[in-house]
Amino acid sequence: MIANAISVAARRVELFGALERQPADLLLGLIDLYRQDPRPTKMDLGVGVYRDDAGNTPVMRSIKAAEHRLAETQPTKAYLGPEGDVRFVELLAPIVFGDALARSPALTGVQTPGGTGALRLAAELIARGVDDPTVWIGTPTWPNHAPIFREAGLAVRSHPFFDAASGTIDFAAMMLALQDAASGDVVLLHGCCHNPTGADLSSEQWHALLAMLADRQLIPLVDLAYQGLGQGLNADACATRALLEGMPEALVAYSCDKNFGLYRERVGALWVKAASPDAIVAVRDNMLVLARSLWSMPPDHGAAVVRVVLDDPVLAADWKAELENMRLRIAGLRAALAQADARLAPLADQHGMFAMLPLTREAVLDLRASHGIYMADSGRINIAGLCRETVAPFVAAIAPHLQR
Ligand code: LMR
Repeated sequence: MIANAISVAARRVELFGALERQPADLLLGLIDLYRQDPRPTKMDLGVGVYRDDAGNTPVMRSIKAAEHRLAETQPTKAYLGPEGDVRFVELLAPIVFGDALARSPALTGVQTPGGTGALRLAAELIARGVDDPTVWIGTPTWPNHAPIFREAGLAVRSHPFFDAASGTIDFAAMMLALQDAASGDVVLLHGCCHNPTGADLSSEQWHALLAMLADRQLIPLVDLAYQGLGQGLNADACATRALLEGMPEALVAYSCDKNFGLYRERVGALWVKAASPDAIVAVRDNMLVLARSLWSMPPDHGAAVVRVVLDDPVLAADWKAELENMRLRIAGLRAALAQADARLAPLADQHGMFAMLPLTREAVLDLRASHGIYMADSGRINIAGLCRETVAPFVAAIAPHLQR
């Protein structure tokens, strides 16, 4: 008996013994570093949240109103299904796709926990679809993209996107690298307000890319996380709409975190366009089965609030006006930066909250230590973290370090 117990113990494999320590997320780590800095002149240009002139990330007026209404009228907290709030998806679709495309029977969508949930669900779906699922991502991209796809078992390949030296997109290099992609490979594209560079393809480049994707039978997965914060709600969705109209199959991972200011509520959606009516039914079945095992059903509150906003013309108009003010504030700061130093001029042609500055990692760390300026190690800044008064001191601090 004792001998038996000893041999069982000897055979026992320690479940967690082989796990290695993991580095903390550098971007999210900035939140704490900034909080701990006692200097009153510190600047938070780190994580991508919108900020007003006072440096706050307020709950939007339309969202507050919808939350009050929801608190007073919500009849139950009983479960919804793995598809989440169906009406939320129905009301959001025309904003993303325009009225006609939103009604397309080739398209199906479900609510997800944020844009990250949408990307993960997309990745799981892609992994079910083909034998050697591969996704192509541009360099640089949001640091969480590759981990999301890898954790779902996809092979991740990269193609050039942004040329740091000139501060512009290297479209020729991107198109050349994608010649190596095989039919059925997925190409991840930022629908607007590229994160981290702010550099979006021109409409000519989108059309050339679309023709190449169609020709080589590649499948676009659009990450649309900043609609309304670049050039406006419709303009920011143009590329996404063109891709969906022009391609037989496509995926769109959407986030309401920034444009509805709902960050921690985790509100998003995944839409898929399939090639045939039969395929779209099977796609939806698989999305629901996957969602059930990933998170059973998405958290309700944020999506319910968006539904209340979009279902009421007065609240919806107010939300659009608030979003437009946010967009204009960011665009004004972007223009001020571009004018302040000739080496920042490319920022004027870029869009959204982010810009990638030509700074070494050492310079970023030095700016953090000596000036209390917090930005991602890559040199990405969240422009919304500035205000009219801080543009000049910010540019003065970075000027000696700019590489261009
Ligand atoms: C960002 O890029 O700063 C945001 O999308 C926040 C995040 O989750 O990384």
